[in-house]
Amino acid sequence: MSNPTLLILPGDGIGPEVMTEVRRIIDWFGDKRGLKFDVAEDLVGGAAYDAHGTPLTDKTMAHAQSVDAVLLGAVGGPKYDDLDFSVKPERGLLRLRKEMDLYANLRPAQCFDALADFSSLKRDIVAGLDIMIVRELTSGIYFGEPRGIQADNEGGRVGVNTQRYTTNEIRRVARSAFELARRRSNRLCSMEKANVMESGILWREEVQWVHDNEYPDVELTHMYADAGAMQLVRAPKQFDVIVTDNLFGDLLSDAAAMLTGSLGMLPSASLGAPAENGRPKALYEPVHGSAPDIAGQGKANPCACILSFAMALRYSFDQGTEADRLEAAVESVLRDGVRTADLMQAGDRDPASTTQVGDAVLKALDASL
Ligand code: NAI
Ligand code: MG
Repeated sequence: MSNPTLLILPGDGIGPEVMTEVRRIIDWFGDKRGLKFDVAEDLVGGAAYDAHGTPLTDKTMAHAQSVDAVLLGAVGGPKYDDLDFSVKPERGLLRLRKEMDLYANLRPAQCFDALADFSSLKRDIVAGLDIMIVRELTSGIYFGEPRGIQADNEGGRVGVNTQRYTTNEIRRVARSAFELARRRSNRLCSMEKANVMESGILWREEVQWVHDNEYPDVELTHMYADAGAMQLVRAPKQFDVIVTDNLFGDLLSDAAAMLTGSLGMLPSASLGAPAENGRPKALYEPVHGSAPDIAGQGKANPCACILSFAMALRYSFDQGTEADRLEAAVESVLRDGVRTADLMQAGDRDPASTTQVGDAVLKALDASL
């Protein structure tokens, strides 16, 4: 059988720096675990604009469509701020998400014990937290028509956006969430505002339909999204997998992320429809951006990107045990105090560099054998 294929798009700013560490880890899994990937690397964002005058070439787009998973660093930077909107670095990422039709955005909120003091909440509320928010990514109010700003008939203006969801759009993201729930604790909570929005009523009915017809073994609950927001900061550990629409998911996933501390720790995955081999179309990337303020200084925390690769192991390559191994290695490195500056507090000793964290993760992986 041929090796699984990976396309690596390091991008801009700290993207290439954190990706260098991930590539060493990918090599480690090939050498020590017999898990060989066919890895290709290409340009995206400002780097692609500099080389080709476009943030994503058609050739790279076609390549991304053909691989088992894409791993992306970050795009953007001040150098590109004045570019025309059509060639801005972000457009490369948006094109990938759109053309691969990545409708399920997975945002884990996981609190490593060693970092519980970085949370804005009390330690015992967040220590050991491990939840997953699935946000619908390709429809809803950010895309619905009609939209725009027009003159109203009182001499003022009216701004319009439309929340719109179809049966198919709700069912497919619900299936992604039910599949995840089955791999985890078998519990799913769906959030909308069915009390005040028709699209919320449809959301609730269709998620219930997928449950009753396809996933009756998963425990499904429904919650209004505002109540869900309260519960997320009051007692987040009551949840396991949460599925919600694009707008509520945007807010809830950012709020949940901050329960866990630094931007430098947060991975994500965006999944689409399963291909013939059963693997979903998939893009894995850290939540953070290109961090121009620290780029090129060896200060970037590579953990978010490393943990994004752990998600790829789990969700694209069915290597849950190896994903656990990598996550445990990251956790042990943090526990040992090998940390970049973003995970330091006043009085801590010298921060580790990006490479030193990579070195320590590789050592911890060796120790896990
Ligand atoms: P950012 O995430 O790049 O940085 C925000 C702050 O967090 C900065 O102080 C940065 O130094 C710090 N930070 C981020 N990642 C870190 C890491 N791994 N280790 C240590 N510190 C880290 O967001 P910002 O500053 O709003 O945007 C900078 C550029 O990145 C912009 O051009 C923006 O458009 C782009 N961006 C790209 C994203 C992507 O590629 N998915 C997402 C967000 C922003
Ligand atoms: Mg957001």
